[in-house]
Amino acid sequence: MIRVENLSKSFDDHEVLHDLSIEIPAHQVVAVIGPSGSGKSTFLRCLNGLETLSTGSIEMAGQVLEASMKKKELKQAVYAIRQQTGMVFQQFNLYPHKTVIENVMESLVVVKKLAKIEAQQRAQKLLEKVGLLDKMTSYPSQLSGGQQQRVAIARALAMEPQLMLFDEPTSALDPELVGDVLRVMKQLAEDGMTMIIVTHEMNFARDVADRIVFMADGRIVEDATDPKAFFDQPATPRAQQFINKINEF
Ligand SMILES: Nc1ncnc2c1ncn2[C@@H]1O[C@H](COP(=O)(O)OP(=O)(O)OP(=O)(O)O)[C@@H](O)[C@H]1O
Ligand SMILES: [Mg+2]
Repeated sequence: MIRVENLSKSFDDHEVLHDLSIEIPAHQVVAVIGPSGSGKSTFLRCLNGLETLSTGSIEMAGQVLEASMKKKELKQAVYAIRQQTGMVFQQFNLYPHKTVIENVMESLVVVKKLAKIEAQQRAQKLLEKVGLLDKMTSYPSQLSGGQQQRVAIARALAMEPQLMLFDEPTSALDPELVGDVLRVMKQLAEDGMTMIIVTHEMNFARDVADRIVFMADGRIVEDATDPKAFFDQPATPRAQQFINKINEF
């Protein structure tokens, strides 16, 4: 379970997230959608401790992160939260000089301190899960974007996170590579992973998500637990406008 209370975030004097509160139960799949600049990435980055909070708190897996925390306390809380959270970005950020399996093993050896053989075995299982066991000795540059993104997912899963955050994981991909990545994500959802996914893939959001959070201007404008109803008929004018615009194309 994740509980966000009264989260605000400012960059200098500019407040970009205004007093967000939301609770997400374990195993829920939440799609976060909304116009560019509405604060979706900033929200995810706050959840993962990549941004400091200006006000409010985040609680997950027994860990609490509060805007009011002193530096040392904050560092410990961020470290604890990152241990529980896997994040996948638009850009895959794999280590170019390491092979696929080495990329997945890295955190197992460095953070989890597993023996190499054990790390290898676990990495192989994860690569099998994302359909890339045959590429384990390749380098990232020898892979397609979709394959690299699936390695990035396997790498994030290696830490056995309780929560997976995705920030537009398919938007840098050629259209024919998107499906493979979405399939892996759908499987994760079916396995019961708690997921928060910022996405422009509206069909995916409609089919796979349990809940749609629509953000605009740094606020949660709509929070819908029936994705199909949301897409057919959003409750707010702002969301209606957004959906209409998408449907124009
Ligand atoms: N590091 C930063 N410094 C200053 N302003 C920032 C920073 N990061 C984000 N912002 C501002 O915060 C607002 C929200 O940005 P954010 O990237 O969260 O939007 P988004 O919803 O993810 O947009 P997109 O769909 O284009 O990715 C924007 O006005 C952006 O300019
Ligand atoms: Mg973004």
